[in-house]
Amino acid sequence: MNILVTGGAGYVGSHVVEELLKTGDHRVVILDNLQKGHRESLLGGEFIEGDLADTSLLYRIFAQHDIEAVVHMAADSLVGESVQHPDKYFHNNVTNGLNLLNAMVRHSARYIVFSSTAAVYGEPIATPITEEHPQAPTNPYGESKLFFERIMARYDHAYGLRHISLRYFNAAGASPSGKIGEDHRPETHLIPIILEVALGQREHVTICGTDYDTPDGTCVRDYIHVADLAAAHLLALEALAEGAASSVYNLGNGEGFSVREVIDMVEKVVGKPIAREEGERRPGDPAVLVASSQRIIQELGWRPKYHDLETIVETAWFWHKEHPQGFGS
Ligand SMILES: NC(=O)c1ccc[n+]([C@@H]2O[C@H](COP(=O)([O-])OP(=O)(O)OC[C@H]3O[C@@H](n4cnc5c(N)ncnc54)[C@H](O)[C@@H]3O)[C@@H](O)[C@H]2O)c1
Repeated sequence: MNILVTGGAGYVGSHVVEELLKTGDHRVVILDNLQKGHRESLLGGEFIEGDLADTSLLYRIFAQHDIEAVVHMAADSLVGESVQHPDKYFHNNVTNGLNLLNAMVRHSARYIVFSSTAAVYGEPIATPITEEHPQAPTNPYGESKLFFERIMARYDHAYGLRHISLRYFNAAGASPSGKIGEDHRPETHLIPIILEVALGQREHVTICGTDYDTPDGTCVRDYIHVADLAAAHLLALEALAEGAASSVYNLGNGEGFSVREVIDMVEKVVGKPIAREEGERRPGDPAVLVASSQRIIQELGWRPKYHDLETIVETAWFWHKEHPQGFGS
């Protein structure tokens, strides 16, 4: 299949590209504006540096590469920034996404797999969270992703554009190949922040809130290995190609770890103490976010291979040790 991967030079995107190329069955075209992504993270495929806002570029890509399917990961995804600048989030995650859908319709591309998020659920009223859980995002980022899911449903109804939304929980870890890993700038994700402390690049990790209603008072999250996440995109594309109806799936491990447990695990893996400081809660952070991924397990046969936290941290540490300055190392 000829597949366009938007945001393919980003963290999850580069791992999806690696997974698609491993099959040897697909021609992969990557579109990324490199505002957050890294050219060095691409292990193959045809890279086009450009922006989803550029509609004529999009139309050219679809026409020249005969694109049949899209994996749409390009987005802005910082929750705090989205509260300060909702315009940026609705513009990039919704308006620019519409450019993509319109190009798909114009060029008869048939399937799209979309990076959605646990943030569409907002404050959970039941755990583990299933896909039927009410969707009530508490910030513009989650709202922009939910809008896009709904727009795709309308495009399916009107134009037959079939789609699978994958609602990721916390993506973590690095490719077991050791070639690519996580390099967000600024880094806001817990595991790479703790690893920066281990590498002497930060003095300490701040625990944001110690008075939550959880066993040790810190937030509990569901970490999913980025390679397992990438494998799910392939399954989703295959299902759509075989005629599956549009759907939405959670992607998590179904097991939660507190911030303290994650720091303890990093200490175990790197073999040295991690300095920690206790800080205030971040506004809008739910106490517990844990997924039920039963639907994708049952319907698409997804089987996570790297589900234990120790393996997730080990793969991340291996990459960070080898690339202390990220992709510029
Ligand atoms: N990392 C996570 O834990 C997580 C969790 C839930 C959902 N997601 C979603 O998964 C996707 C990938 O996340 P990530 O962590 O890899 O983020 P990332 O920032 O590393 O990757 C996003 C990529 O999209 C590119 N991009 C953004 N806007 C663009 C545009 N208008 N045109 C072209 N390229 C553009 C960026 O340069 C970047 O390379 C995002 O949609 C994000 O919202 C991520």
